[in-house]
Amino acid sequence: MFRKLEPSTREVSILVSGQRVEVPANANLACALLAAGVQLTRVSPVSGAPRLPYCMMGVCFDCLATIDGIPNRQTCLESVREGMIVEIQDGKAQYMHEASLGDYE
Ligand code: FES
Repeated sequence: MFRKLEPSTREVSILVSGQRVEVPANANLACALLAAGVQLTRVSPVSGAPRLPYCMMGVCFDCLATIDGIPNRQTCLESVREGMIVEIQDGKAQYMHEASLGDYE
């Protein structure tokens, strides 16, 4: 579906939902995920619908994913780094302080 305009000079390895994927170094992460054929970056907490990057400029929030353990990161505003770990965000993100409050409720 996507075609590179010019060949990558260097590729790096990242993990996407546990799968090793080779992507161009310093590429926009959302572009790299789309080019790699990733089918979703998050699942809507409202409808349960799968979502993919849409606006590519930080407005729609359809590209949210967990990056290196931090949820709600906009993949369209991130650059690829060697060893980056990207996880699909399934529904509403739970932050650490929310998780710890659960012990006291
Ligand atoms: S693709 Fe719209 S905010 Fe990232």
